[in-house]
Amino acid sequence: MLLVDILRGRRRLRGSVCKPPCSFWFLLLFGVGGLVLFIHLQDLPDMVLQQAPAGVRFRGSTLSRQEQCAQFSDRVNQRSEEGDIDPISPMQLPDSQWERDSATPGSREHDPSPQQVTKRHRKLLKTSPVLRPNSSSPSRVQESRRRIIRDVCGKYRSNISRTITPHHVSRIYVEDRHKLLYCEVPKAGCSNWKRILMVLAGVANSTREINHVAVHYDNHLKRLDSFDHQGITSRLETYTKVLFVREPMERLVSAFRDKFESPNSYYHPVFGKPIISKYRVNASQTALKTGSGVTFREFMHYLLDVHRPVGMDIHWEAANQLCSPCHLHYDFIGKVETLEEDANFLLRKIGAPENLSYPSFKDGNPKAARTSTQITQHYFSQLNASERQRAYDFYYMDYLMFNYSKPYKDLY
Ligand SMILES: *[C@@H]1O[C@H](CO)[C@@H](O)[C@H](O)[C@H]1NC(C)=O
Ligand SMILES: *[C@@H]1O[C@H](CO)[C@@H](O)[C@H](O)[C@H]1NC(C)=O
Ligand SMILES: *[C@@H]1O[C@H](CO)[C@@H](O)[C@H](O)[C@H]1NC(C)=O
Ligand SMILES: *[C@@H]1O[C@H](CO)[C@@H](O)[C@H](O)[C@H]1NC(C)=O
Ligand SMILES: *[C@@H]1O[C@H](CO)[C@@H](O)[C@H](O)[C@H]1NC(C)=O
Ligand SMILES: *[C@@H]1O[C@H](CO)[C@@H](O)[C@H](O)[C@H]1NC(C)=O
Ligand SMILES: *[C@@H]1O[C@H](CO)[C@@H](O)[C@H](O)[C@H]1NC(C)=O
Repeated sequence: MLLVDILRGRRRLRGSVCKPPCSFWFLLLFGVGGLVLFIHLQDLPDMVLQQAPAGVRFRGSTLSRQEQCAQFSDRVNQRSEEGDIDPISPMQLPDSQWERDSATPGSREHDPSPQQVTKRHRKLLKTSPVLRPNSSSPSRVQESRRRIIRDVCGKYRSNISRTITPHHVSRIYVEDRHKLLYCEVPKAGCSNWKRILMVLAGVANSTREINHVAVHYDNHLKRLDSFDHQGITSRLETYTKVLFVREPMERLVSAFRDKFESPNSYYHPVFGKPIISKYRVNASQTALKTGSGVTFREFMHYLLDVHRPVGMDIHWEAANQLCSPCHLHYDFIGKVETLEEDANFLLRKIGAPENLSYPSFKDGNPKAARTSTQITQHYFSQLNASERQRAYDFYYMDYLMFNYSKPYKDLY
């Protein structure tokens, strides 16, 4: 029952207990699981992308526990703070700096594709009044995004330890020249962010010349957890910490389409096979053997199953689980819904070269349309009301922290 509770997204941050002995068992489980999967993996590229396959680390759907237990082993930061949630520490980016520069209107003139921006803006005006570009200055918008996260973290605080572990920073990329920390949320513009980081770091001259393979397997980017304690804390204290998020259901559908609707030599065998064999009645031998053809409904049954046959994956893990916004006080929260605007504003802030702007490349299947609100609704129409509710519960903390509104009226 406790496990069920932990898995309800809504209750994720409330008291899950984990005493030292259980950390031992979970470590053992992960160790063995990791070894087994390692032996079975034949496809290197996607595994490199996965780093430690999240499916193993979170096997048995014990993500919350795992996160809490990890703190018994590797303590990086022993500092104890006053109060549960820090205000944004002023040294990170003085508000005055944000205010001063905010007079400069966005960076529309640097945008390579003005048509897209207007289209995006039109959509935004329709769907989300708060994001109207001139309803408040970009720095005001940032202020309120940070405040909401702080409030939500404060309200839902449980006994989250305030110790920052390498796990909390394992998804963060480091760009030392511009003192930038970027937390990677897959399916939220991360490939193009990596291109930007590569150009900022001087690994490439222009985002145009970086192809998809180079972005993920040859990017020369360092992760924050590769540094020692001192290296991690000093960067966390002085660098601009950036997180880009996306409407959770759209992100989920985008991940599903990307990983299951076109051939994939990692996701089909590793996730598709167990999903089909557990959730499809009368599955064909071919389907069981290849793991191809997982339907959205089957995928959702897997995601919402307390006893998943295979663990979680970064592409559908909640953003707050990947980037720990209650532990790390991000200076900048960008949204895919206002991607170019947010990204280019940030680039000017950190003093990026004038001719560097957020690119509009689409990675993944080039023939498939970008996942839109309409496309997302089409997928979710395959679920019944209670399944939609459970999906919302699963991403509830992301909805709250990043102030996305309920995607369906009948949700509570
Ligand atoms: C917002 O922009 C529109 C058109 O660009 C303009 O008419 C309006 O006055 C602006 N509002 C504010 C508060 O700046
Ligand atoms: C954890 O939370 C429980 C109830 O919410 C509380 O009684 C307990 O004192 C807390 N423990 C710590 C270490 O904060
Ligand atoms: C960038 O351009 C310069 C001069 O055009 C060239 O020497 C250098 O090799 C280029 N760097 C990369 C990473 O392509
Ligand atoms: C930006 O300008 C620099 C030199 O100032 C040049 O090396 C680089 O290629 C330019 N990048 C783009 C994308 O044009
Ligand atoms: C599964 O196959 C059996 C035999 O072909 C058939 O009787 C049964 O109705 C099928 N079940 C479903 C749910 O399709
Ligand atoms: C929705 O589908 C689930 C199966 O995933 C089923 O157990 C449940 O009864 C259905 N709920 C409604 C309201 O139809
Ligand atoms: C959060 O979103 C809602 C609905 O989109 C909006 O009305 C509200 O102003 C937003 N809150 C803040 C602080 O931006």
